[in-house]
Amino acid sequence: MTRVVLLGGGGRGMGAATARLLAERGDRVVVLDAFDTVDDFYPLADEADRVALQSISGIETMSVDLRDGAATIAAVRSVIQRHGHVDAAVAFAGAVTGGRPLWETDEETLEKSIAFNTLTTWHLARAVVPHLLSRPAEALPTFVALTSVAGEKGLYGLAPYVVAKHATAGIVRALASDLVGTSVTACGVAPGSTDTTMLRQTAAAYGLTDVHDLVQHQHGKRPLRPEELAHVVVFALGAGPVLHGAILPADAGLGRV
Ligand SMILES: NC(=O)c1ccc[n+]([C@@H]2O[C@H](COP(=O)([O-])OP(=O)(O)OC[C@H]3O[C@@H](n4cnc5c(N)ncnc54)[C@H](O)[C@@H]3O)[C@@H](O)[C@H]2O)c1
Repeated sequence: MTRVVLLGGGGRGMGAATARLLAERGDRVVVLDAFDTVDDFYPLADEADRVALQSISGIETMSVDLRDGAATIAAVRSVIQRHGHVDAAVAFAGAVTGGRPLWETDEETLEKSIAFNTLTTWHLARAVVPHLLSRPAEALPTFVALTSVAGEKGLYGLAPYVVAKHATAGIVRALASDLVGTSVTACGVAPGSTDTTMLRQTAAAYGLTDVHDLVQHQHGKRPLRPEELAHVVVFALGAGPVLHGAILPADAGLGRV
C-alpha cells in the first residue's frame, strides 16, 4: 500500500535516511525542513541537502520553519491539497546545545531548545493529527516523534536539551492518551548517539573533536548509522496499535547499560 508520509525536519541526518528508505519502498514522501533559515543556535539543513533529496524519485521538499505554528499548518494543508491525503507524519526536527551545568544556563538558551525540539513536534502534531483522524484504520494513520536517551534520563552538561526532550516525550504520551479509541496511533523513537550533525554538535558542546568519545557505552562502541535509525522509524510507522504510547529505545544500549 503506497502511503503519503510527512517528515518534519527530514532534510538531512536520520530524517533524510528515512525519506530514502520510504521512497525505495514506494511511499510518497514530503520533507518539511527549514532549508531557507539560518540560525546561529544550530546549523540547519541547507540548499545542498534540499537538492540531494529532491533528486530522488518519490521525495519532495518544502521549506518551513516548524517553530512557526501557523506556517506549519499552512504547509501541511498544502500537502493534503496536493496529494489528497496524508497517512503518517514523523517529527525529526531538533537541535542540541549544552556544555554548561544547568545553573549556568540562561533562560534564552532553554527557550530556544524547547522551541527547536518541543514546539516543532507540538506544531506538527497539531497540524496533522486532525487530518489523520479522518483516515481509516486500514491506512495505519500514525504520528511518530524522535525523542532521545536525553528524553528518558539526565545527561550531564546538556540541561536545555534534556529538558526539551523530556517535554517531547511528554507530547508522545499525552497525544497517545488522547488518541485512544480513534484510528490514529502515536509513538516515539529514542535514538542513541547516531552519526549526524547532531552528534558532532554534541561533541563540540563537550569540547571534543572526536565523536567516538561519546559512544563508549554503546554496543560496538561506534555511532549508529542514520540508516539503522531509519529502519526503526519505518518499523514504527507500520506497527499500528501495538506500539501506541511507547517510546522505543533505539540506542544500542546507551540508555540502559
Ligand atoms: N544524532 C544523535 O545522536 C541523536 C540522538 C538522540 C536523538 N536525536 C534526535 O533525532 C532527531 C534527528 O536528528 P539528527 O541526528 O538527524 O540531526 P540533524 O541535525 O542532522 O537533523 C535535524 C534536522 O532538523 C531540522 N530542523 C531543526 N529545527 C528545525 C525547524 N525549526 N524547522 C524545520 N526543521 C528543523 C534541521 O534542519 C535538520 O535537518 C532530532 O530530534 C534529534 O534530537 C539525535
